[in-house]
Amino acid sequence: MPTPDLFSVPDDAALQQRAQVLRRELQHHAHRYYVLDAPEIPDAEYDRLFQELQSIEVQHPEWVTADSPTQRVGGAPLAQFASVRHAVPMLSIRTETDTQASGAANFDARLRNQLGLGETDAPIEYVAELKFDGLAMSLRYEDRVLVQAATRGDGETGEDVTQNIRTIGQIPLRLPDSAPALLEVRGEVYMRRDDFEALNERQRQKIAAGAKGEKTFVNPRNAAAGAVRQLDSTIAAQRPLSFFAYGVGEVAPPEQGGPVWQTHFELLQTLKGWGFPVAEQVRVALGAAGLIAFHESIASSRDKLPYDIDGVVYKVNRLDLQRQLGFVTREPRWAVAHKFPAQEQLTTVLDIEVQVGRTGKLTPVAKLSPVFVGGVTVTNATLHNEDEARRKDVRIGDTVIVRRAGDVIPEVVGVLPDKRIEGAQPFTMPSHCPVCGSAAVREEGEVDHRCSGGLFCSAQRKQSFLHFAQRRAVEVEGLGDKLVEQLVDAGIVKTLPDLYRLGFVHLASLDRMAEKSAQNIMDALEKSKLTTLPRFIFGLGIRHVGESTAKALAAHFGNLDAVMQATEEQLLQVADVGPVVARSIRTFFDQPHNREVVEQLRACGVHWPEGQPSAAASLPLAGKTFVVTGTLPTLSRDQVKDLLEAAGAKVAGSVSKKTHYVVAGAEAGSKLDKALELGVPVLDEAALVQLLANHPSASSGLG
Ligand code: IVH
Repeated sequence: MPTPDLFSVPDDAALQQRAQVLRRELQHHAHRYYVLDAPEIPDAEYDRLFQELQSIEVQHPEWVTADSPTQRVGGAPLAQFASVRHAVPMLSIRTETDTQASGAANFDARLRNQLGLGETDAPIEYVAELKFDGLAMSLRYEDRVLVQAATRGDGETGEDVTQNIRTIGQIPLRLPDSAPALLEVRGEVYMRRDDFEALNERQRQKIAAGAKGEKTFVNPRNAAAGAVRQLDSTIAAQRPLSFFAYGVGEVAPPEQGGPVWQTHFELLQTLKGWGFPVAEQVRVALGAAGLIAFHESIASSRDKLPYDIDGVVYKVNRLDLQRQLGFVTREPRWAVAHKFPAQEQLTTVLDIEVQVGRTGKLTPVAKLSPVFVGGVTVTNATLHNEDEARRKDVRIGDTVIVRRAGDVIPEVVGVLPDKRIEGAQPFTMPSHCPVCGSAAVREEGEVDHRCSGGLFCSAQRKQSFLHFAQRRAVEVEGLGDKLVEQLVDAGIVKTLPDLYRLGFVHLASLDRMAEKSAQNIMDALEKSKLTTLPRFIFGLGIRHVGESTAKALAAHFGNLDAVMQATEEQLLQVADVGPVVARSIRTFFDQPHNREVVEQLRACGVHWPEGQPSAAASLPLAGKTFVVTGTLPTLSRDQVKDLLEAAGAKVAGSVSKKTHYVVAGAEAGSKLDKALELGVPVLDEAALVQLLANHPSASSGLG
């Protein structure tokens, strides 16, 4: 037998065949990676296969095929897009304007009527889908190879954006042999929110580095639209786009090997089988009740999705019923888009005000022309701080996009630069407090400017009265903005105890204050004198001490004097109190005027039941900080945390010099390294159990 020649150069036929094999393999792995999110090989191996194919194609450019994965990286820039006439028009869907559940019921009732169904007839079967907020796209496959991708355009004619669409990893360039020879898949090109954030971050860095002509995008939809309409596909290739399939256009008829589908749901499942991403939320829904349930469930989980949707879509499931229902003008009767209340709206910036908070923090706030968004009327949106305001470059007179998603506070997400009026000036933070004129300072490493006026600043004083009097603090009913404003502006109250020195005459002499209201305030002040320790501590307005920290302090120390005298070290033993908070509490009580305020409030009769320090301070592991990392053999991380906290220990998230012990299990990573580096004792589960067992009070949870 002749020895095979190991060093022979493969002949052309073998090389061409190798290229073919590589394309199939890369195609398979791209589907695993981009669509199924379940890669079978490491990225480096994918890259190796890719480079092998690339080098073959460089030697033989004449072998490059349209479906080659190497074509995903973009090609020569175009002068313009060619137009494409859609073989089957790309329709739009009617939008149900009623965003309530009744919108779904109306649609179902209308269809039952059109189909002549009576009350006793079975419910209509629908497919309920998400309404993606991106761009409609038609993908044409001939002989199972992607040959054209076209935008919707006016529905009849769109633009040929094939080069850009090829760069989307989720879109198959070649279909399996089970797919028909002619197939158009319709769906939505979109950008995930995390991809959008990362893209904008890269854009910001380019801008910061002085790149010309770069910009950030206002939302994922705009970023996706910009990428799809890029004439230079190498740029499009760097914009991370995704795709969901939701229908078909032209398809080979059954006699030419085309699929035979009875229902829309079946159609979607087939597309999924051919490698197209189909949203996992797609459901078959029965009648109006099924649609309403879907609408509600998606509405409540909307903010958790990794991409934007603006509603849901209902489609009649049976394709024969779809045909029977037909179309009105450009819209099918068998489908409807049921929108959610919009989360973004356009409005104009009337002014940018700088507000002064209780701790002196200066916050730029955009005053907006009132706009209904996310279910409420919005007139203000915080710009947070100088850096944020500059980054967004919001100017007075600008047209801006305001977003309110879920219960999140409304924000300006971006400016429409084309609508900027000439001469609009960039925002600058004032160098002085707009209220009291004290210097506004921004400390090294801080993002916020602060008014340095302290309680000299009437804005800070007003806020501190309101903070003290709020319901969750010492609660003085009826002491609201207007009243505080008058009392402070007239110089009647300067410090908190002054509130309790107010006489009926003071109050009754104020503008628009009826005798009855004056008496109500007097009564409310009297009533507020009996409070609780946590409310009182919270009401003092110590920086970084919110309601829950106030509760923890009260529980730990039992009485106010103990809190006031505690050292930073002692404060650090309280659950949730870290170094910044401990420092802030200490600083507060070190100021003589703060101690005086407390004494005077007590002298005025403000009081609360005091108690003993909670058991926590005397628990066996009180004052000890633990960090838990890795997987323990039997106990879950939460169980360990509960056990440690029950023994009085604090469980922290990261290892520092202040960590007393690290509890480490299997696959502990950087936290364990850090512990070893700092010489922090490390316990395994057995040692932890031992430690807890030495302190019977805490070990009751161990079975
Ligand atoms: S079906 C014949 N399904 O909404 C029905 N459209 O006006 C054709 N859209 O621009 C469309 N999600 O891009 C359909 N699950 C979905 C959709 C969806 C988003 C978009 C589509 C089109 C618009 C319909």
